[in-house]
Amino acid sequence: MINVIARVRESLAEIDSAGRKDAARPIYHRLVSCLSASVADGSVPIGTRLPSERQMANALAISRTTVQNAYRKLESQGYLESRRGSGTFVCARPEWAVKAASRPRRNYARNVSATSNTFLLDLMQAATETHRYSFETGMPDPALLPTAEFESIIADLFSRRSGEWISYSPTQGVPRFRYALTQSLLNFRGLAQVPTDQVLVLTGSMQGIDLVSRLLLNPGDAVMVENPTFPGAIQIFRSYGAKLVGVPVDHEGIAVEAMEELLERHRPKLLYIQTTLQNPTGATLSRSRRMRLLELVDRYQVPVLEDDAYGLLQDSLETRPLKADDPDDLVIYLSTLSKIVSPGLRVGYLVAEEGLARDLAQIKQLTDLHTSTISQYLVEGWLSTGDVRGHLQRCRATYRERVDLAFRILQGDGTLRPYMEPTGGFYLFCGLPEPLTAAKLRAHSVQRSVIFASGDAFTVDGSLGNYLRLCVSSTDLPTIRVGLERMLRLVEELAATAS
Ligand SMILES: Cc1ncc(COP(=O)(O)O)c(C=O)c1O
Repeated sequence: MINVIARVRESLAEIDSAGRKDAARPIYHRLVSCLSASVADGSVPIGTRLPSERQMANALAISRTTVQNAYRKLESQGYLESRRGSGTFVCARPEWAVKAASRPRRNYARNVSATSNTFLLDLMQAATETHRYSFETGMPDPALLPTAEFESIIADLFSRRSGEWISYSPTQGVPRFRYALTQSLLNFRGLAQVPTDQVLVLTGSMQGIDLVSRLLLNPGDAVMVENPTFPGAIQIFRSYGAKLVGVPVDHEGIAVEAMEELLERHRPKLLYIQTTLQNPTGATLSRSRRMRLLELVDRYQVPVLEDDAYGLLQDSLETRPLKADDPDDLVIYLSTLSKIVSPGLRVGYLVAEEGLARDLAQIKQLTDLHTSTISQYLVEGWLSTGDVRGHLQRCRATYRERVDLAFRILQGDGTLRPYMEPTGGFYLFCGLPEPLTAAKLRAHSVQRSVIFASGDAFTVDGSLGNYLRLCVSSTDLPTIRVGLERMLRLVEELAATAS
């Protein structure tokens, strides 16, 4: 068994002898940092029972209160959990919190600390892991993939267009694919007659958030975002040194009435917003708020990055994107194939005023030269010859049924509080009963093969740690039933032992 006390002594001695800055910090801080680092580098493995507060205090000749405070701090960060009657244990998750503060990065560039959060890294890893009840990664159901259509397009590509799909291609995107986007997906969203020159093909829509940030943001600039919002966007903005100004979200979308004062105070360089089926809440911006929002951004001349990742999964024509009512070209429209076909293709696209689209392409050339040529040919083939409308209808109906069922189960049970009733899309965002946190629940639920994403990763201020995001898109109805039941019973058990 690992000797935790010896490991802590060694680690404290290392801090002191290396003359590190933290050597001068109070013992409480040093204890927190060496225990967290030991958990993160695996030298104190997950599942280890820590010495009692008294044992640790005696061994280090420090007060018991200091040890108690350090253990509490580590518990709140998700490193430890205390089990009544059995002691304090190193717990499995959340890995992103565990890793975040761990490794020294002395020679790295300053903005690297902003990318130390590994939430997305872990989410991508989880996408390939098999958990019986996986409510974590936001993916379309592979069973809905139009496989036969794709097979025939691939066969055709391999037989006829080998020269084209194997080659480099223009940074802006394969011309016939850009054109196909204007005729199909953009058109379906009410963006009729978009000139092809305004379309930039992306290696996933994440790349669009990155390119726009690189073009518009200087360190210290403010970016206004919904709070909660997509963690990938939060991390990218932070990596450019942006200050995030969070605006609450309710069932009608971003709280536009709170925006004016914040616009006045922070003068943001950019507004990042999801107007339809927002990740993680499922909210869609109401018509009246859309109009008010457009007025405000026009008055304050704030460019808008409108992320419409889930827009094609909304069945109502009411939900046209802001970009459809944007005469002054303040809106950069962003979307992706990741939620309707496959995230592994890594194909996204944006629409921006022509000059802006060209400048963004110039930045893209430095990042990846161009998006995978074969992915673009594949999707182009499908958009031009496949039953795209029929596919989208099947996706909408299937996901709607799944979120509806999950919502009914949660509402009927009452243990978890849904943030709002979703009208489609992939997600439900729900609150846990006091005093449970998502990190604590996850440490247990993972052992029962139930996984989900913790709410705090979606916020700009680390709040909503008592919320979780459940993704039900790739889980069939019977599995949603059993998985949620299992999770709800676990929440009840934990709540009972915690209170
Ligand atoms: C709102 C939002 N934007 C962008 C992305 C990233 O998608 P892509 O695979 O296109 O990079 C996601 C993925 O979850 C998302 O939820």
